[in-house]
Amino acid sequence: MNISETSNLLHRALDLGLEFKTRPAIFGRRESAEAIRDLLLTDLPTAPTDADAVLDDFHERILPLCKNEASPRFLGFGDTGDDPLALAGSLLATLTQQNLINQSFDSPSATFIDIAVLRWLRDFLGYRNPAVGEVRTVWDVGGMITPGGTTSNTVAMLLAREAKAPGTMQSGVSDPGRFAIVVPEGIGHYSVRAALTWIGCGAQIIEVPTAGFRYDRAELARALRRHRDRAMAVVAYAGDSRTQTVDDLRAIHDLVRAIDPTIWLHADACWGLLAAFTPTLRGKIDGIADFDSITVDPHKILAVPYSSSALLVRDPAVIRSISTYSDLIMQEDFAFGQITPFLGTREWTSLKLWMMVRGRGRDGLAQLAERRCESARRFAELVDAHPRLVRLNDPDLSAVVFAHLPIGIEAGQVDRRALDRINDLNLAIHARMLSEGRWHLHQFTMRDDLGRLYGGATVHPLRFMAGNPATTETHMHELLTYLTVLVREIEGDDA
Ligand SMILES: Cc1ncc(COP(=O)(O)O)c(C=O)c1O
Repeated sequence: MNISETSNLLHRALDLGLEFKTRPAIFGRRESAEAIRDLLLTDLPTAPTDADAVLDDFHERILPLCKNEASPRFLGFGDTGDDPLALAGSLLATLTQQNLINQSFDSPSATFIDIAVLRWLRDFLGYRNPAVGEVRTVWDVGGMITPGGTTSNTVAMLLAREAKAPGTMQSGVSDPGRFAIVVPEGIGHYSVRAALTWIGCGAQIIEVPTAGFRYDRAELARALRRHRDRAMAVVAYAGDSRTQTVDDLRAIHDLVRAIDPTIWLHADACWGLLAAFTPTLRGKIDGIADFDSITVDPHKILAVPYSSSALLVRDPAVIRSISTYSDLIMQEDFAFGQITPFLGTREWTSLKLWMMVRGRGRDGLAQLAERRCESARRFAELVDAHPRLVRLNDPDLSAVVFAHLPIGIEAGQVDRRALDRINDLNLAIHARMLSEGRWHLHQFTMRDDLGRLYGGATVHPLRFMAGNPATTETHMHELLTYLTVLVREIEGDDA
C-alpha cells in the first residue's frame, strides 16, 4: 500500500461524503428505478480504472441519486447518523478490520468494546450487570450486537422457542402449533412474524386488538387463556414502528405472568430506548427490565450510522440454549461467534456507539432524547393549530402522525366517503413528495386507533419524525407551507 496515495484517496472520499451530508438537498437528482437501472447495470470492465476516475464516476453518476438523510428537509425516518464521533468510530472500525467472531487474535480489544456497550445499554434499561471481574465468558454478558432490529428480534424468537421446547436447536421443530406468538393487532413489526417463519415455526401469530395503539389488556388476557398451549411469547412495543407509542410494559408483564409464568416476554424497544436516557421519559418504559429479552436499535435513535442493533436478555445464561460450537470458531471464553446466530464474521459496529456515548456522556444522551421529544411536541402543536391537519397520535417519543383534510371536510364529520377522500389526498401528497424529493415524510397504512378521523378505519397518514438534528422550527413552518402548496396543486388538478 502506498500510504500517501491511499491517504489522498481516503481524504477525497471523506470530502465527498461530508459535502454530500452537508448539502441541503435530499436528492441531487430524481430518476425512475428503470432509468437508474439502465445507468448503473454496466458490464465489468476488463482494464483497471484509475482510483480517482472511480471516485469521479461515483461522484457524478451515483452520488446525486443517493438520499441524504442529513438534509433538514428529510423528516421521514429515525435518525440521520451524524454524530461526529460515531462517524469517526465507523471509519476506524473499517480501517482496523477487526473480526468479532473470535477474541484472542481476531479482536483482542474490540470484543470488550462490544461488551462495554452492551453493559451500558443493559444499565440504561435496568437489567443488572455482573461485576467486571465476574464477566468470565461471553455467556456472562447478557446480549449481543447485531446488524439490525430484525436480526435482534429473530434471535429473541429463537430464545423463546428454546425456552418453550428445550433442545429444538438439535432435534428440529416438532409440533409447530405450540410456537405461536402474541402481538398487538395492526401495529406489530413484520420482523417477528418473519422470524417465526425463518426459524421453522411457521407464521403463527395471535393478534390481539388494541386501544390507542396499545394492547387492549382485557383482550390480551382473553387471548392468553384461549391459546394457553399455543403461545410461546408475548411481544410488546416500547415504541411501535408507526406511531412510536410505548405500551404499558409493567401492566403487560404482570398480566402475562399471572396467567402463564413460563411465557417468553419480549420488548421491542428499537425506538423506546430513547426513553431510557432521561428521568423525564424513563417512566414510560417502567417494567421493561422484567421482560426476558429486549431489542434496541441505536441506528434509529442514537445518531450513529447504519447499522447498529443489540439484543439484550435479562438472564445472560439463557444464551447457552442457542449457542453453536465448531472447530472453526475458537472455543475460547470471549469468542462471540459462539453465541451470535446467523452471523459468522462480524464487523466492529459497536465502536461508533462507544465513541458517540463516550463523547456525549449521560447528560448529552439525556439532552438528545429530550430535544427530540420536545421537537415532536412542537410539531404536534403546529399540526393542532392548522385548520386542515388532524393529528392521529399523541406522541410518546419522536413521531407525529397526521393527515391533511381535503377542502370541505371537517374533522369530526368524517363518513366513509369522506375517509376515502382523505386517504386519496394523503396518498397523492406522498406520491408527489416522493417524486419531487424536496421534502420527505413517511407514509404507511395504520388503523385510526384514537378515532381522530374514523375510529378503527384504515388510514394512509403522513408522519413527521423529530430525529433529525438539523431540522429547526423554521423548517417545520416551511414544511407546512410546502404541504399547503402541494395540496393546492393536487386540488387544482382534480378540479
Ligand atoms: C419497532 C421495530 N422493530 C424492528 C424493526 C426492524 O429494525 P431493522 O430495520 O433495524 O432491522 C423496526 C424498523 O423500523 C421497528 O420499527
